[in-house]
Formats: sequence, structure tokens, C-alpha cells
Amino acid sequence: MNQLENRPLDGQIAVVTGGAQGLGLGITRQLASDGASVVIADRQEDKAREEAAKLQGEGLTVRAVALDITDSAAVTSFFAELVAEEERVDILINNAGTGQQVAPIVELEDAEWHRVMDVTLTGAFYCCRAVGRIMEEQEAGCIVNISSINGQNPAALVAAYNIAKAGIISLTRTLALELAAYGVRVNAVCPGPVYTEFNQRNMAQRRVTLGISEEEMIERIRTAIPLGRWGEPEDIAQGVAFLCSPAASWITGEVLRVSGGMEGVSATPPKRPRQ
Ligand SMILES: NC(=O)c1ccc[n+]([C@@H]2O[C@H](COP(=O)([O-])OP(=O)(O)OC[C@H]3O[C@@H](n4cnc5c(N)ncnc54)[C@H](O)[C@@H]3O)[C@@H](O)[C@H]2O)c1
Repeated sequence: MNQLENRPLDGQIAVVTGGAQGLGLGITRQLASDGASVVIADRQEDKAREEAAKLQGEGLTVRAVALDITDSAAVTSFFAELVAEEERVDILINNAGTGQQVAPIVELEDAEWHRVMDVTLTGAFYCCRAVGRIMEEQEAGCIVNISSINGQNPAALVAAYNIAKAGIISLTRTLALELAAYGVRVNAVCPGPVYTEFNQRNMAQRRVTLGISEEEMIERIRTAIPLGRWGEPEDIAQGVAFLCSPAASWITGEVLRVSGGMEGVSATPPKRPRQ
């Protein structure tokens, strides 16, 4: 059989927020390889366009649109314009998120708390709300929200991030219930460690609190992963693509951990020196 006839997402219109790099880029490539027409919605406009052009060069249908998911009005008009052009939205992957400056709760600044919540939780809510309305109307669709193993098992020193990701799980399960009658499925994926720009920043800060080198930190994480290796964007992308595929048509409100078996990052920091 012709391979092209066999692609599970043929003809579907998909949006991947934060698709310009890292996990979002891996997810974009996977969904497009599975036949979807993918729109990368990212605040890094130039990078998103460059990556979209590269994927087009590989014969995939990908384009880029500038979007800051923390801007409620911009999110609403982005999806309104998309549905006006494409007539539907079949898949939304809420992937954009931001890490937190490593700090104990007792030293966590208001501004950092709000910055992380705005991108990692509220932005996903804006996108879910806008697309939920469209999918409810078309009585079909699939949403996958990217949480984290931190959303299930919190790691020390990144409370705002843990809480935002726990919120993503609750958002997912609530929306799954509300949209089930319309045939819309909503699931979450909890990735384990993948060495993206996001994780490089986090590792660089976290190792300082533990007094070890970056290499030691990377190795410490690796040995804590039951399958014995860091994840790759493709590992996460394949979990996401499965949830979007017809093979998952009776799965909703589910939380899929894709982490090499890792349940959480356990590194208890020592006492901080008194000022
Ligand atoms: N890398 C990991 O180990 C890991 C583990 C668990 C969960 N996650 C989650 O996976 C997702 C992707 O992580 P990553 O490692 O690829 O991160 P990354 O920082 O490498 O990429 C994030 C992308 O999101 C975009 N983005 C950030 N804020 C945005 C906004 N306001 N509007 C639109 N786009 C925005 C960025 O421009 C970037 O392209 C995040 O939600 C992250 O929390 C990552």
C-alpha cells in the first residue's frame, strides 16, 4: 500500500504552541509526518519561520504564525482567523511553557510566580478555551496538553512550575469532561527530562544548589531514569501523536507519562547558609 495512504492524521489541521524549538518542534515534525497540516504558533517569530521552512523543504506541510499565548485577545483572534481560513481546527497541542528561576518558595518573587503561571498555565487555558469553542461547534477534535512529571510529583525549588503543571493536569481532566458530549478528546502528556534549551537552563541553575558540575548533574539525572537515558523530542512526540491518532479514539481525560519510567526529580537541597 502507498505509505501516504496510510498516514493516521491525513488532512487534519493542527496547531502546536511553542513549536519553534525543543519538544514542540519534535511534535510538529511528527504530526506533519503523520499527514497533518501543522501551524507553529510561537512568540519567536523568526525561529518559527526558519524551522517551518526547513520542514517544508522535507515535503511536510508546516507554517508559522507569531503568537504570544499570554495575550488573551491575540489567542482568540489567532484561532478565529485560523478557522476562517481552514474552516476547522482538528488538533491543538498546548506545548508552550516556561521554566522557573530555581528558588525555594520562601524566596520566590511575585514577578517570577506570575511570569511562570502566565505562560505555563494561563496561556494554555486561553488556548483551550478558544479551541474548545471551535471544537464544540464542529463536534470533533483533539487536544493534548503538555504537563510534566513535575505536575505529578513536585521537584524542590521550582514550585511555580510544579503548580502550573499540576494545574495543566486538572485543566485537561476538567475540559475532557466538559467536551466529551461533543466527541472532543482532551489528554495530557507528562514528559520526563529531555535536554532542550529549557532543561539546559534548569540544569545549570540546579547544579549550583547541589554544588556539583553540569556533567555530574546530567549523569545524576540519567542514572535516576529507569530506562537509563535522557529522552529525545521524538520520544515525547510519539506519545503525543498516538493520543491524536484514531488508535486513541476511546481515550480522554488521560495523563500519559513519557519519561523512561522516571516518576519525578528528587533532589532535596541542603540548608542554605544564613545571611
Ligand atoms: N524539556 C524537558 O525536559 C521537559 C520536561 C517536562 C515538560 N516539558 C514541557 O514541555 C514544553 C516544551 O519544553 P521545551 O523543553 O521544548 O522548552 P523550550 O524552552 O526549549 O521551548 C519552548 C518554546 O515555547 C515558546 N514559548 C514560550 N513562551 C511562549 C509564549 N508566551 N507564547 C508562545 N510561545 C511561547 C518558546 O519561544 C519556545 O519555542 C514546556 O511546556 C515544558 O514545560 C519539558
